[in-house]
Amino acid sequence: MKTKIYAHRGASRYAPENTMPAFQLAYEMKADGIETDVQLTKDGVPVLIHDENVRRTTNGTGFVEDYTLEEIKQLDAGSWFSSKYAGTSIVTLEELLQWAKPKQLLLNIELKNNVIEYKKLEQKVYQLLFTYDLLDRTVISSFNPKSIEKFKKIDRNVNIAFLTSTKIRRLANFTKLLGASGIHIKYRILSTHLVGECQKHGLDLRVYTVNRPAQIVRCYKLGCTAIFTDVPDIAVKLLLHNQS
Ligand code: G3P
Ligand code: MG
Repeated sequence: MKTKIYAHRGASRYAPENTMPAFQLAYEMKADGIETDVQLTKDGVPVLIHDENVRRTTNGTGFVEDYTLEEIKQLDAGSWFSSKYAGTSIVTLEELLQWAKPKQLLLNIELKNNVIEYKKLEQKVYQLLFTYDLLDRTVISSFNPKSIEKFKKIDRNVNIAFLTSTKIRRLANFTKLLGASGIHIKYRILSTHLVGECQKHGLDLRVYTVNRPAQIVRCYKLGCTAIFTDVPDIAVKLLLHNQS
């Protein structure tokens, strides 16, 4: 199977992460999918932003959970990256789904609930994916095992992956026990052993954040299910020459 290429927070090397320009660019660069991070506003709307605090990627300060949708939409999520993107706003999950629906893009919705526990995040994300009929091309992921269990209770057939940046003993077993169907790992813990374990247990293995050509090619050669990359253009080019 061809390794899939997910644009990490969109084509985030070239446009402000988790914004429509970054998603649009990823699509134009022919990424297979989009990875994005989701959190809830004060009024319970799923929005796409990586950090719990808006400071790094907008002109605002404070926590996402303290902003209503109307307030968070006023923030400039583009100027920090480049003046070219001034006025770019934070995207709701619903806006992303509407945009992605006719494009046949794969989606990875990462639940950002490992620092702040958004009580209804799982339910709200599920409801939107269900409404837009996009569950079959979406993989949900989370660093938080409790959130994975919660999601599985909503729909046991959902495609969900456990995220980890550290080595965990018997990771494949642990993932199976959680009821997840895949593992998303930081590149530095990738090993041939883990690839074998995932194959043995029928688990998908997706790797982040893979930007260097040699690392991208290694993932292809090992037969990883997918990579998450800030540079989907480079990954697409390399795939043409290196997929066995
Ligand atoms: O979902 C893969 C990757 O995005 C996880 O880490 O911090 O970039 O969201 P982070
Ligand atoms: Mg992420």
